[in-house]
Amino acid sequence: MKMWRLLLLGVATGRCLHEETQKSVRLLRPPFSQMPTHFRSSILPLPGSHEPRPLRIQTYYSRAPVPGEAWDPEGETRALAAVTETTRRIQGILAVLPVQGPLLLSRDPAQYCHAVWGDPDTPNYQRCSILNPGYKGESCLGAKIPDAHLRGYSLWPEHGLPQLIQPDGPGVQNADFLLYVQVAHTSKCHKEPSVIAYAACCQLDSEDRPLAGTIVYCGQHLRSPTLSHDDIVMATLHELLHALGFSGQLFKMWRDCPSGLSARENCSTRKQVTRRDERGQLLLTTPAVSHSLAKHLGVPGTLQGAPLEEKQGSLSSHWESRLLQGSIMTATFHGAQHTRLDPVTLAAFEDSGWYQVNHSAAEELLWGQGSGPDFGLVSTCRTGSSDFFCTGSGLGCHYLHLDKGSCDSDSTLEGCRIYKPLAKGSECWKEENGLHTRAENPHGEIYHRHSRCFLANLTSQVLSKHTSQPSTAPDLEDPTGCCYLHQCTHKGAYEVQVEGSPWIPCLPGKAVQIPGYDGLLYCPQGRLCLRDEGARAATSQPMSFTTQDLLSQLSLRLTGTPGHSLGKGQREELAEVVLQALVMRAGTSRCYFHSPTITTSLVFTVSMWKSPGCHGPSVAMLHRTLTLTLQMKPLQVHHGEAIFTTDYSKLWTSLDHNPSMTELLLSTGFCLLVLILVGALGTLAYQKRAMLQVAPSTT
Ligand SMILES: *[C@@H]1O[C@H](CO)[C@@H](O)[C@H](O)[C@H]1NC(C)=O
Ligand SMILES: *[C@@H]1O[C@H](CO)[C@@H](O)[C@H](O)[C@H]1NC(C)=O
Ligand SMILES: *[C@@H]1O[C@H](CO)[C@@H](O)[C@H](O)[C@H]1NC(C)=O
Repeated sequence: MKMWRLLLLGVATGRCLHEETQKSVRLLRPPFSQMPTHFRSSILPLPGSHEPRPLRIQTYYSRAPVPGEAWDPEGETRALAAVTETTRRIQGILAVLPVQGPLLLSRDPAQYCHAVWGDPDTPNYQRCSILNPGYKGESCLGAKIPDAHLRGYSLWPEHGLPQLIQPDGPGVQNADFLLYVQVAHTSKCHKEPSVIAYAACCQLDSEDRPLAGTIVYCGQHLRSPTLSHDDIVMATLHELLHALGFSGQLFKMWRDCPSGLSARENCSTRKQVTRRDERGQLLLTTPAVSHSLAKHLGVPGTLQGAPLEEKQGSLSSHWESRLLQGSIMTATFHGAQHTRLDPVTLAAFEDSGWYQVNHSAAEELLWGQGSGPDFGLVSTCRTGSSDFFCTGSGLGCHYLHLDKGSCDSDSTLEGCRIYKPLAKGSECWKEENGLHTRAENPHGEIYHRHSRCFLANLTSQVLSKHTSQPSTAPDLEDPTGCCYLHQCTHKGAYEVQVEGSPWIPCLPGKAVQIPGYDGLLYCPQGRLCLRDEGARAATSQPMSFTTQDLLSQLSLRLTGTPGHSLGKGQREELAEVVLQALVMRAGTSRCYFHSPTITTSLVFTVSMWKSPGCHGPSVAMLHRTLTLTLQMKPLQVHHGEAIFTTDYSKLWTSLDHNPSMTELLLSTGFCLLVLILVGALGTLAYQKRAMLQVAPSTT
């Protein structure tokens, strides 16, 4: 079962391998026929064990003995870190009736036994009569299972007592599931460069609950710098959920336990788990799943079931991605940032009858939320009735609004089109993406931790009016995806900020105008600020302390009436007048500007930092905007009889990524401060880079 294809570079090609992986594995159950009473004791709960407990997954890592393959310490480290985190996470999600005593796995008689007794009238009917001399022990998807984890086996005469060949191993204590882990570069990895890992379940208990499985990581692919730890954890979780029961092969073994998990004697195998609806769509029809999907789509009551992805008639092990895009159990992976452990998937585990599910571990899935019973159908996705889908191939926003996206399709979408994150640099929340924008930023984009993608066709009036040569960036006409800052004000309500603009309330579903810009910005509905975390929620704190806010200084040389010299008091007055003009130009509050001064040689200097409670763009951003507009259009101030103008050629800035200028201009004392801060910035920037995990921008 179970391949999760990471589709790199937007190429939605390649076979789905999960069926092939599944086929290679024979699911083993405990051997009933030859099972003396003590065999059952390790599987069936003893009295007093009728309380579900968090699922204990014990992992065994074996370095794959692949000839000629170099050991891959980096892939190994990343894989094992992900396994550890994922198994811990699953403990908080799934509980089972704990296995009592050591967990022992079964041997496959078809492997160790060459022939069995065939006469139903003999006492040892169907027991092993001839051993397979070539028996090499048991394995699970290529991982060798140690004899210590396995039951023993015997050779039986036609009548009488058996000859013990291998006794039971000691088994594994404190385990409800054994996970064998391999890091390798298998032929499957080789064939599918987008596969992170694949997994299979190999053994079931007497109630058919999965007891053991293997996950194989494609070691070479784990080294990709575009994969973050979180991505590998999500891929691992996806694979383990397959191995724990979310699989086309295992659906038909799910149990119906009307009296709950603790009363397992009343459980029966479910009569129907999947079926086709009138459109031919394959559905998973169990009750919790149907109910959960109805709730998700905002349909009263229940639905017939939740659609499964189908590929060439294979047994489906994934949700239909048109309906449950972004769910952890869809067939394609777009990075951890875009993936949710959704409530419908957790409902499926409840319906398996093997687990008690912690539903508070579910993550909200925005895709299709409240969109009604016809959402995601091939017949409705192209009508423009839902803004989750798009038509054409233009640029817009991925539905989570974290990324810009382009309208695209793939084989799992059956002709429907959605905004997929671009291959590179489309994350609005990554500041480094903004470094690539030219100094000229006609659309006023801001890349920041709190930036989101908005449909907009804004063009800066300053730039369009004052650029002598035609602007290199054409005016936007059709709205496209752009990155702007947002901050939540209430549940469902937010404000936006474009470079140099004040905060503008954005009414969900409406378009707003931004001062200083032509065009409109569209405010998405039902996507941003959904949690009621109070005004100016922590998740959307506009500008918490960023390195760019530390300190900045703006210096302007004024040219005035020739020969006009000013006294100290006059200079103070003039400084105030210049500051007022500057604040007007900036379109922000005065809370950014501190200690304006003018020297006798008419250099105006003001410190820029945000006072507490000062809301708006970062200092660096404001500084950049001001610098730009002052270049385009100098400030002119009247003071008494005189007129002063800022001199473009004499415009100096400090700390705006331009330390050399700073040194020219500033006193030694300030230089020292600047150097210290620059040092601190270097450290902070480094730490930030180390912390910002790179999510793959894939489609
Ligand atoms: C259930 O999930 C929530 C959220 O992940 C977690 O905080 C809580 O500890 C879990 N409960 C149990 C019993 O594991
Ligand atoms: C199992 O089902 C029977 C009949 O429905 C009921 O009487 C009995 O109490 C159930 N057992 C448990 C442990 O719930
Ligand atoms: C922005 O788009 C709207 C329609 O979406 C259009 O009416 C308007 O003219 C556009 N503005 C500019 C400046 O292109």
